[in-house]
Amino acid sequence: MNKEKSPPRKRSVARARLERLLDPGTFEEIGSQVLHRSTDFGLEKKRLPGDGVITGMGQIEGRPVFVFAQDRTVLGGSLGQAHAAKITKIYDLALDSRVPVIGINDSGGARIQEGVDSLGGYGELFRRNVAASGVIPQISLIFGPCAGGAVYSPALTDFVGMVADQSFMFLTGPRVVKTVTFEEITTEDLGGANVHANTSGVAHLLFQNETEALEQTRRLLSYLPSHCDEAPPYQPPTDPMDRLPQELETMVPENPKESYDIRNIIQTVMDQGSFFETHAMWAPNVVVGLARLGGHPVGVVANQPLSMAGVLDSNASRKAARLIRTCNAFRIPIVSFVDVPGFLPGSDQEYNGVINHGAKLLYAYCEATVPKLSVILRKAYGGAYLVMSSKHIGGDINLAWPAAEIAVMGAKGAVEILYARELRGHDDPQARRAELEDEYKQEFLSPARAAQRGYIDEVIAPCETRRKLFRYLEAIRTKQTNPIPRHNGNIPL
Ligand code: HXC
Repeated sequence: MNKEKSPPRKRSVARARLERLLDPGTFEEIGSQVLHRSTDFGLEKKRLPGDGVITGMGQIEGRPVFVFAQDRTVLGGSLGQAHAAKITKIYDLALDSRVPVIGINDSGGARIQEGVDSLGGYGELFRRNVAASGVIPQISLIFGPCAGGAVYSPALTDFVGMVADQSFMFLTGPRVVKTVTFEEITTEDLGGANVHANTSGVAHLLFQNETEALEQTRRLLSYLPSHCDEAPPYQPPTDPMDRLPQELETMVPENPKESYDIRNIIQTVMDQGSFFETHAMWAPNVVVGLARLGGHPVGVVANQPLSMAGVLDSNASRKAARLIRTCNAFRIPIVSFVDVPGFLPGSDQEYNGVINHGAKLLYAYCEATVPKLSVILRKAYGGAYLVMSSKHIGGDINLAWPAAEIAVMGAKGAVEILYARELRGHDDPQARRAELEDEYKQEFLSPARAAQRGYIDEVIAPCETRRKLFRYLEAIRTKQTNPIPRHNGNIPL
């Protein structure tokens, strides 16, 4: 039989990216022969290899994953009907098999020549993204353009990673922006990786180059189970669990106004080198991420005194709530480190809907059924005390360091409100104020009262934090609750 020889295939950047992401030699391509059937705008004359996307499966650290990578060398990586069908096919396989999906986005968006077919293709993909949400991990890497409604697919996934000076995401590009609003702005300033990592929060992870992005994506997956009914992956720890880090005794300054970097505490308590921070630059007043404690993955939520004194605001609430919901979906216990002066007051916050965003964080903690542990390090005031995994909203284990202050507000503010009249009429208001502040401190500014009432389970020495958290977590790792069945809760706006 005279078989026609196919031309040698150019090595595709998209395939090379997938091969670098996966364990060597494990990539199996699915649908490499797929061709589009479009006959408009001369497309019938164009043979598009893979229709602009490479799809398939492979392994990461021996665990199966489904993957796709858009190929910008083929009609701009634009998404037409066949392109979309290739991606949704691997999504269906992944969802039925309970295997994670990692997508590399590098595309000019909906293929203009295919009109409604390409729009429909996005719709099919969005539907899979949502069906898979909370069932299997979905990770999106943006390695080039991701424009128009196309941005919604990554936004529907669990983690979005972008590469500095290389990737961008926006609903409408600079040219359309200029036409509609007369604003002149560059691609980078409108939707570059730095914008989404610092300002919008769309990017959970910012990488300096593709190699780092691919390596860190492999690492990220090491904290996540393959699906929501699997235990998060355990790695035998090399860091001893009975370690009593003495440095914790002095890491938090006594003066409540003095700042410190909460990341040092997290890194000291968790298994050495295990903290994987997400959203590192956006809303820096709260620090979130994944880590390991005794080899088991945990989610970390921590107020960051180094930024705005660790106050909670709209974006910090959204950031923490998102991490909590991701962890809860994948059965990852949550450890909260609390040192919070309250919610940020002011018209800016109110106009930005801090009521709803704060409620969103409250909702996430209340809704989470995974083990929830917290440690109050220095202060927990007002609504922020309640919100940060307190016993009252379902915290399972609540610990406090001996110097922790738990109150409706700090001494200064409280005395100002409670004794305004007395102070106004006093001969020496300054001395009296100091006296009253001291009294208030004696009464409230220790964890004793909260511990007496059972709101704090144990007051522990800072150096014991690692060991205690581990022991408690071991005991409640198997926690099960049965929330009342419902169609869905109604997350605040
Ligand atoms: C068809 C496209 C395309 C598209 C690019 N190409 N985008 N073809 N549909 N959406 C083609 C170009 O015609 C060109 O073909 C080749 O891909 C490379 O494109 P260039 O523009 O030369 O590349 P570059 O300079 O690198 O610019 C990349 C780009 C730009 C920034 C992505 O192409 C661009 O702005 N494209 C349009 C982006 C966009 O607005 N998309 C629609 C979004 S709306 P030739 O044959 O010349 O090589 C959307 C709706 C989704 O996606 C709705 C879901 C709800």
